[in-house]
Amino acid sequence: MHQYTGKLAVLHQGAEEKQRSQELADRLSVPLYEIIDKECPENFFLSWREGCLKLLDRELLKKGGLVVDIEPRNGEQRSWPAPKQDALAHALGRKTKTVVDATTGWGQDSLHIFRMGYELICIERSPVMAELLADGFNRLAELDWMRNLQLRPPKLLKGNAIELLATLDTPPDCIYLDPMFPPKRKKSALAKKSMVVLRDLLGDDHDKEQLFEASVKATGKRVVIKSPDYAEPLGGKPNESYHGKLLRYDVYLKN
Ligand SMILES: C[S@@+](CC[C@H](N)C(=O)[O-])C[C@H]1O[C@@H](n2cnc3c(N)ncnc32)[C@H](O)[C@@H]1O
Repeated sequence: MHQYTGKLAVLHQGAEEKQRSQELADRLSVPLYEIIDKECPENFFLSWREGCLKLLDRELLKKGGLVVDIEPRNGEQRSWPAPKQDALAHALGRKTKTVVDATTGWGQDSLHIFRMGYELICIERSPVMAELLADGFNRLAELDWMRNLQLRPPKLLKGNAIELLATLDTPPDCIYLDPMFPPKRKKSALAKKSMVVLRDLLGDDHDKEQLFEASVKATGKRVVIKSPDYAEPLGGKPNESYHGKLLRYDVYLKN
């Protein structure tokens, strides 16, 4: 049985994007629907709407859906490169130039890293998330400031980072990890909808330790792990830790 059987379908409504929707459904080996009724077993849907690829669950069907948001975060300076001044930038390291984000997800950390001017490669193993990211990066490429500065979006590698990291041409200065940790409480009122949907769709990442080990091998200088403040450090005692709101960036330096 395919990984998305009974879980995910592509939803196509209206005349636009019919071909594109069919190709997407074929790539992911999932059904293509024009309407969703009670008989459909799937809970997740990908749909082209208003020029973006959106992920919907049943709750979001009428409300809109989730996209890879390419706009700067609240409080982030709208210049390029944005100043490297927050906890994440400190964790990435003052001398760091090249970064691999091995757990790209919704791309929010990646895009922040990219906007701070680091040279970035992104890795994502979920085929659904990789489709959403590819759409987000295509939209990013079209933005005026990207064109004016002749910038290209980060390179996106699709697959398991545990294998892909070993195939990199040059070791990056930093490998960044933000795997899915089990939630502290059953349902957190604070959890963002995009992260709730990601967890429902993908579940926890149970091979975090192997990913950490593969990252230590593949990095040139350091590995940074983002984790919730309640979680034990994934790789034992870190060399440095930087604290953000309810989270921590643990830094492991390679000697
Ligand atoms: C918590 S999310 C990351 C969120 C991301 N930092 C953001 O800002 O949107 C974790 C993501 O890492 C991906 N992932 C976990 N382990 C991976 C691996 N070994 N290789 C590639 N992707 C992985 C999961 O599929 C998921 O999309």
